[in-house]
Amino acid sequence: MQKILVTGNGPLHGEVLISGAKNAVLPILCATLLTDEPVTLRNVPNLHDVKTTKKVLEGLGATVSYDPERFGSGPDSEVTVNASTVNSHVAPYELVKTMRASVLVLGPVLARYGQAEVSLPGGCAIGSRPVDLHIKAMQSLGADVTVEHGFIKAKTRGDRLKGAHHTFEIVSVGATENALMAAVLAEGTTVLDNSAMEPEIVDLADCLIAMGANIFGHGTPRIEIHGVERLHAATHDVVADRIECGTFLVATAMSRGSITTVNSRPETMDAVLDKLREAGAEVTVDGDRIHLDMRGKRPKAVDITTAPHPAFPTDMQAQFMALNCIAEGAGVIRENIFENRFMHVSELQRLGADIRVDGHTAFVRGVEQLSGAPVMATDLRASASLILAGLVADGDTLVDRIYHLDRGYENIEAKLSGLGATIRRVD
Ligand code: UD1
Repeated sequence: MQKILVTGNGPLHGEVLISGAKNAVLPILCATLLTDEPVTLRNVPNLHDVKTTKKVLEGLGATVSYDPERFGSGPDSEVTVNASTVNSHVAPYELVKTMRASVLVLGPVLARYGQAEVSLPGGCAIGSRPVDLHIKAMQSLGADVTVEHGFIKAKTRGDRLKGAHHTFEIVSVGATENALMAAVLAEGTTVLDNSAMEPEIVDLADCLIAMGANIFGHGTPRIEIHGVERLHAATHDVVADRIECGTFLVATAMSRGSITTVNSRPETMDAVLDKLREAGAEVTVDGDRIHLDMRGKRPKAVDITTAPHPAFPTDMQAQFMALNCIAEGAGVIRENIFENRFMHVSELQRLGADIRVDGHTAFVRGVEQLSGAPVMATDLRASASLILAGLVADGDTLVDRIYHLDRGYENIEAKLSGLGATIRRVD
């Protein structure tokens, strides 16, 4: 099994190209199932989760032009999906269990073919993560849904789903996406209240609009959709990954360096940029570029409270915890989205971090210096926090179970090496 070896080595400097967003490309790949015509996505990141989504789409019968071995990176990296050959309505357990986002085929397959069977994703490291909100949204749109033998089985009553007014009990990114994709082909108007407002939802809506959907209010809590009978071919550029970008910015702040992110989307990152400024970074924005400069200073600890967008994202919580570990002062981190998202704490403690956890709250007091050690990645963003800590720790940090990292970060070791880090993959 591969591991990543990081050796603490001074400030990061330079320019880094930000990839397309994992959390946008996955739902958008699922949205390609909504039309018989080819949909081309550009700025697609080369990630293990994209490979898994390809398998899910191919399992349904779609054709996907993506070869991870020969795939480039950057804005020109393209994937085309042709869903005219779809001949199955089933997303099996083997795929859904490895990637929860597979549940996002439920809405499109149901809307397009009148039936869908999607395995329940089950638990995962960061919490139980149920799918009840996805199911309730499909029911509001007129589907009959049962859960049996580990599968969600959904059927439309007539030929099509029916537009409806649906209010999500709690804000959910995935449930909003599934409902949005289902509603675009429903008969009549759908209003989705208490929708998630993440930039990845806006990007999905933009792609659906390019495919011929009528959607209004995306990026606000109320999305209105006027259903159409069919969608058509389109080309769409995937929005930049604000979490990848934030991860490089935090790494640079921790190392007291200065970087410029290129092909980023600063307007999607207000909460994170504000916290970096609070930590003492000089942050300026110039079009698609973010410049961060620590002027050689040690970062100051910050308090973080995670909540749905536009508040501070849970996917940046672990990285800011790593920052607090070496910062001046102490910071309080409150995790409000997932019940078990502090698994990186015990690993950071192995590196010498001073952290105390009480329920959903972690109290972190910065230490002068972390000390490298072997650590275990437990989930995607936790893996990133361990690499960040390793970059500023004394000596070697060997991060095991990096398959988590490959799910969501394109070429992280090459990108960090390009900024001057001493990091490599070892077997
Ligand atoms: C998405 C992101 C993930 C991010 C999360 C929160 C993707 C592929 N993943 O995950 O990186 O951390 O948003 O920003 O985009 N919930 C229910 N019932 C449901 C669905 C969710 O109770 O049916 C709960 C969850 O357990 C969680 C909360 O709602 O406590 C928010 O989860 P949600 O926004 O749905 O996260 P995901 O879409 O799974």
